[in-house]
Parts: sequence; structure tokens; C-alpha cells
Amino acid sequence: MATEHRIIIGNSQRMPELADASVHLMVTSPPYPMIKMWDDQFRRGDRKIAELWKQLDADCREETVTQIYDAMHANLAETWRETHRVLIEGGIACINIGDATRTLNGKFRLFPNHARIIEHCERIGFTTLPYVLWKKPTTKPMYKGKGAFLGSGFLPPNAYVTLDCEFILIFRKGELRSFPRHDKSRYESAFTKKQRDQWFSQIWQVTGTRQISSQIERRTAAFPAEIVTRLVRMFSVKGDTVLDPFLGSGTTIKVSMQNGRNSVGYETDENLLPLIKEKLAIDRASAASDCKVSIVKKAVS
Ligand SMILES: C[S@@+](CC[C@H](N)C(=O)[O-])C[C@H]1O[C@@H](n2cnc3c(N)ncnc32)[C@H](O)[C@@H]1O
Repeated sequence: MATEHRIIIGNSQRMPELADASVHLMVTSPPYPMIKMWDDQFRRGDRKIAELWKQLDADCREETVTQIYDAMHANLAETWRETHRVLIEGGIACINIGDATRTLNGKFRLFPNHARIIEHCERIGFTTLPYVLWKKPTTKPMYKGKGAFLGSGFLPPNAYVTLDCEFILIFRKGELRSFPRHDKSRYESAFTKKQRDQWFSQIWQVTGTRQISSQIERRTAAFPAEIVTRLVRMFSVKGDTVLDPFLGSGTTIKVSMQNGRNSVGYETDENLLPLIKEKLAIDRASAASDCKVSIVKKAVS
């Protein structure tokens, strides 16, 4: 099946290249609010967030920390709103997100990113569906927010539960998607019973890319192709268009190519283009041969 794939170097808070109701599925993983590796990106992309970090340096107030967290989610919500516009009726949005723990101003606390995104998406008009917990290989347990239990590992009560799951939030725009009876593309996209039983259960144990990826893929916090493959096959049919508004290394486009879906991805960081091209070229041999790829570079705002 001939498919088309667009890489747009631009900000997904505005996606004028995409018409209303032109996308069937969105699969993405945004920068995670309050995870240190994404601080600079939020600062660069949003003047209000940059100013709030400066204010925190000056006032060291808990309330300012909360304002930064709120502003990061308001920033992401612009993209969720734009996604709602471009999705068809019955279209699905899948968002991979992890919660964050962090000590700021000497105070350790949890930032439940998944809950904030659900709140924003519901306000935008999405219906929240049951989500998946992606269970990752366990990282070190934490004692008083400091990485490891050390010598006090067996003494209650000051240790914290380790965050070893990420969320794959699933939303729908409007009512269930409808198809003509015996729709060919739908039948051609069927999954097996084994796949259905595994994919539609709530806990997924999939090895993260950190264990298997290149350094640059780690820098973009790429999600495993296995996760995207499941979502694309669960929530779209062959010939559909899949959007990733936070494209990173291009995993969603790669998986779409391999599964007979069209795709479009937005990415603000032009420096990732060589990585994206490499990833798509490497896999071209295993993807359908008639994949047309185009790249558009916009002035990133
Ligand atoms: C967590 S990474 C995505 C990783 C991706 N899932 C992969 O497999 O490589 C988030 C990406 O979103 C990009 N980004 C952040 N804000 C953006 C925006 N407003 N529009 C488009 N891209 C954005 C970042 O540059 C970063 O590469």
C-alpha cells in the first residue's frame, strides 16, 4: 500500500498544515514536565516558564514551583487542543507520559503529570478511556527522595515508592468511529487473538529504549517501537493518518511506514533531522517500498 509521511520542523501548538478532522490517530510522548532533562526546552519555548524559573531563584517559594508546573501543562495543552481540532470524530489520542519526583527548595514532592494531562484533555472535550501502565525495568528505590535506600533500606517510615511505571493515556474525540459494513481496510488490519489478549490488558511489560538505543536516541527519550506498533494497530486501520506532534527521533513515522499507515510528525528541534532521516532510512528495507517521505522546515516560533 502506498503511504505518505510528512516531517514538519515546527511547533505543534499550531498545525495549520493539517485540516480539521484529517487525522485518525495521535500517538506521542511529550517533554515531561518537572523532569530536569526537559527544563531548558520548556524555558526556551515559553517565556512565561523562563520568567517563573528566574522568580523561583529569587523567592524560593513553593507556590512558584506550582506555577511552573501549571505553566508547563498549559504549554502542552496548546498541542492537545490543536490535536482535538485535527482528529476525526471517533479519532483516538494516545499520550505516553511519566510522573515526576523532584526536590526543589529542599522539598521532595510528586508531580502527577498523567493526572494533569487527563484534566486538560477533558476540559478540551476529549473522553478519557482506560489507560495502559507501561511497567519498566525497576530503577533504584528512593530514600528521602535521594536515589537509593543506602544503609537505612529496611527502616520505616521515610522511604518512597519507586516510580517504575509510565502511563499511556488514551482519549477519544466524540463518539465511536463508524465504518461501512465489511469495510475492507478494517478487516485487513485485524489483530490476532493472542495480540488482542496481550495488547488490551492494562499492564504492558516492554523493555525501554534506554537499554537498546544509541546515545542520541536516549537524548530524545525515544519510546520503544513495540509500544507505538501496538497503539497504531489497536487504534487505526491501514490507510489512516497517524500524527505525532512531538516527533523526537521519528519512531511514530517509522512504525506507520511499517504498518501501512500515513503519518505526520512535528518537531521543533531541527538538529534531530539527521537522526530522523537515519532512523527512517535504516528501516526502509523492512518498510513498504512505496513510502513517500517529505520534509518541511518552518521558522520555529
Ligand atoms: C520525549 S521527546 C519525543 C521522543 C519520541 N517519542 C521518540 O521516540 O523519539 C519530545 C520531543 O518533542 C519536541 N518538542 C517539544 N516541544 C515541541 C513542540 N511544541 N512542537 C514540536 N515538537 C516539540 C522535543 O524537541 C523532543 O524532541
